[in-house]
Amino acid sequence: MRIVLVGPPGAGKGTQATVLAETLSIPHISTGDLFRANISQGTELGRRAKAFMDAGDLVPDEITIGMAKDRMEQEDAAGGFLLDGFPRNVSQAEALDVMLKAGAMNLDAVLDLEVEEDEVVKRLAGRRTCRKDSSHIYHVDYRPSKVEGVCDIDGGELYVREDQTEEAVRNRLEVYHTQTEPIIDYYKAQGLVSTIPALGEVKDVTQRALDALKK
Ligand code: AP5
Ligand code: MG
Repeated sequence: MRIVLVGPPGAGKGTQATVLAETLSIPHISTGDLFRANISQGTELGRRAKAFMDAGDLVPDEITIGMAKDRMEQEDAAGGFLLDGFPRNVSQAEALDVMLKAGAMNLDAVLDLEVEEDEVVKRLAGRRTCRKDSSHIYHVDYRPSKVEGVCDIDGGELYVREDQTEEAVRNRLEVYHTQTEPIIDYYKAQGLVSTIPALGEVKDVTQRALDALKK
């Protein structure tokens, strides 16, 4: 299956993507995680992306689209993938369509995680992320690690992401409304969108997503 996850910052895309990808046996491709891995490895791409990310702005398309394409072309993604955080504006969605068409492929579903702003602010305020692998995600109240400050999976240090400041979060929400939300209509026109209420327990949200994919 080829799936796109969309939703505001803090909706739980990364949290859900990890479980869904494992359940469906497809790779979880998060452009945010790819950027953070590049930053921690000190690559040129990471260096170029960092200032945009810290401010909560989109990294320019000419950097992002090529990086996402390279990842989707890797062997493990040949049978499908779950995209988390890509596409994030209409020009990225159009670029993805071109890529898929070139490989005679199509998307199966776009899952739109719906949650109100108060809740995303709470979720982001308490989030802790693993330094070694930013797809390992915790929350001080809702999903605490077994040992405070230490990742359960690989022992990495848990930290507060640089784009979790109040100012960056406000900007990311704004960027989401102005640049990312339009892709929902873009995909609605293709009949691909399922809206998933993302409030409640993580496992209940996962079940709603899996039910939507069966349809
Ligand atoms: P990215 O890393 O994609 O960030 P984001 O979209 O802002 O989303 P988040 O990762 O902050 O939230 P999430 O929805 O994954 O929620 P999470 O699972 O962590 O992008 C970062 C930056 O990279 C962008 O701002 C941009 O600069 C750049 N970028 C990335 N892709 C790009 C692109 N395509 N083009 C251009 N630039 C790009 O959950 C949040 C918290 O809630 C966690 O603590 C979690 O434990 C908790 N939680 C989750 N579910 C629940 C639940 N059901 N109940 C209670 N708590 C929950
Ligand atoms: Mg995420």
